[in-house]
Amino acid sequence: MGEGNLVLAGICGLGRLTGPAVLRTDAGFASGPADITSGPPGALLASAIVPFLGVVGCAADGVDQIGPRLIEPMLRRGWGAGVTLTPTAATWLDAEGSIPRLRELTGLPVRRAPRLPSEAKPHPVPDCYVVTPATANTVAKLGLGLADNQALTQVCEAIGGGDVPVIVFPRINAAHAAHPAWPQHIAALRKAGVTLITGEDVWPLHRPREGSPDRELPWSAIIEAIETNSPKNRPG
Ligand SMILES: Cc1cc2nc3c(=O)[nH]c(=O)nc-3n(C[C@H](O)[C@H](O)[C@H](O)COP(=O)(O)O)c2cc1C
Repeated sequence: MGEGNLVLAGICGLGRLTGPAVLRTDAGFASGPADITSGPPGALLASAIVPFLGVVGCAADGVDQIGPRLIEPMLRRGWGAGVTLTPTAATWLDAEGSIPRLRELTGLPVRRAPRLPSEAKPHPVPDCYVVTPATANTVAKLGLGLADNQALTQVCEAIGGGDVPVIVFPRINAAHAAHPAWPQHIAALRKAGVTLITGEDVWPLHRPREGSPDRELPWSAIIEAIETNSPKNRPG
């Protein structure tokens, strides 16, 4: 759990809003509520412990919305956050130039590749992971325990470790769900305690190319699941 390594606060990139930020210091990571309406950029302002959200984005429509629709609301709710992208998702967000904004929002580098063994971990250990949008490809790999990129490495470890809750929103279509291996992947994740945001009420499945690429992801259901898994709402 990351609860122990989050102690101080700093400036984040939320414009005039008040929100948390995470700073890397010589002593480790620091995070907490930052009042960015006062003080110079980079100033340490407060002392608090805040929950830290590991956000993992895959190469599916809607990944460009993780900043405004997920991270900004979670920062306002008092969370810190760090983003890890699959390699393909990173090329997409690179192409549209949105990675610097994610870095500015979270105060942390956006991860896309494994670190060198000699490098320090660039993010704190999360209190909760959310994988959204999760592609059919990444869900299948998570179900099998394949960890051939940084995003999968982190989430597979959390699933196996059992200490950090994992929430997954599969942004899939009817063909993905009809693949003969799909039910096994979903069953493996459920058995491991992963919270899956699925169902007709949150994400009705369309046939390929029949759903709009601009279809809104079920952000409120995703945020509700994160809050349910917040350290303050978990037993013990
Ligand atoms: C424009 C576009 C949209 C896509 N949308 C989805 C999607 O909504 N869901 C999905 O499972 N795959 C989608 N894909 C396919 C994935 O990008 C592809 O399977 C990729 O290998 C996934 O890599 P990742 O799981 O490592 O992010 C899309 C591909 C493109 C080019």
